Amino acid sequence: MAEPRVIIATDVVERLANQWVDHCIHCQRERGSFAVALSGGSTPLALYRRLAAPDLADRVDWRRVEVFFGDERAVPPDDAASNYGMALKELLQPLGLRDAQVHRMCGEAGDPHAAADEYARLLERRLPRDQNGVPVLDLILLGMGEDGHVASLFPGSDALGVRDRWVIATRSPQPPAFRLTITFPVIEAARAVWLLVTGARKREALAEVLSGARSDLPAGQIAAAPNVCWFVDVEASEGSG
Ligand code: 6PG
Repeated sequence: MAEPRVIIATDVVERLANQWVDHCIHCQRERGSFAVALSGGSTPLALYRRLAAPDLADRVDWRRVEVFFGDERAVPPDDAASNYGMALKELLQPLGLRDAQVHRMCGEAGDPHAAADEYARLLERRLPRDQNGVPVLDLILLGMGEDGHVASLFPGSDALGVRDRWVIATRSPQPPAFRLTITFPVIEAARAVWLLVTGARKREALAEVLSGARSDLPAGQIAAAPNVCWFVDVEASEGSG
């Protein structure tokens, strides 16, 4: 089994932010655009603020960046739990991205399954497809929960086995109970998948996932995939003992 690619650094957010800019510039040179799916939760906050800082933001042609989301909670965009709401405040508004460039998942929809299907059609319209017809993102940013979930793909969920849909509505063991999430085919098809994992509370799950001992966990399922790279701070890495 291939070894996971892991970057462990005290300044891991700085490392990821700079690599993000380099990857974006490369994709824009190669294909004229950069399509990224943002993560939710609290970890990316520092990354979004860093990317919005002028010294990095000024290196990117944000007019040719298209923003998607890896998952969303079943809440309206102005709810404190909204992944879109956090990204809007910390990254998208500071950079002045136009609404047409930003595609939020409609977490608050009355029919979450219809909202998931609509988002999947959006991905199909806006992105190139791979040989299996799966929409291809240039970058998917993910976090990891202490239970080893990624996006809103939770351990033991039927969602883990979905191979013929790109976005689904699923239940979460953590509130809010309903979520919209991309599925594994979209994660596997992306040109790059970067997981940002920080803090001592993630240490145990991360060690299990990176060792290969827990391929049953969602994060374990993708841990050593060729398009995946882990960005880990010292507190979350095993070495900090
Ligand atoms: C979400 C995220 C989720 C998150 C992990 C880690 O909607 O909650 O997409 O997958 O990345 O739960 O969350 P923290 O960064 O808050 O630890």
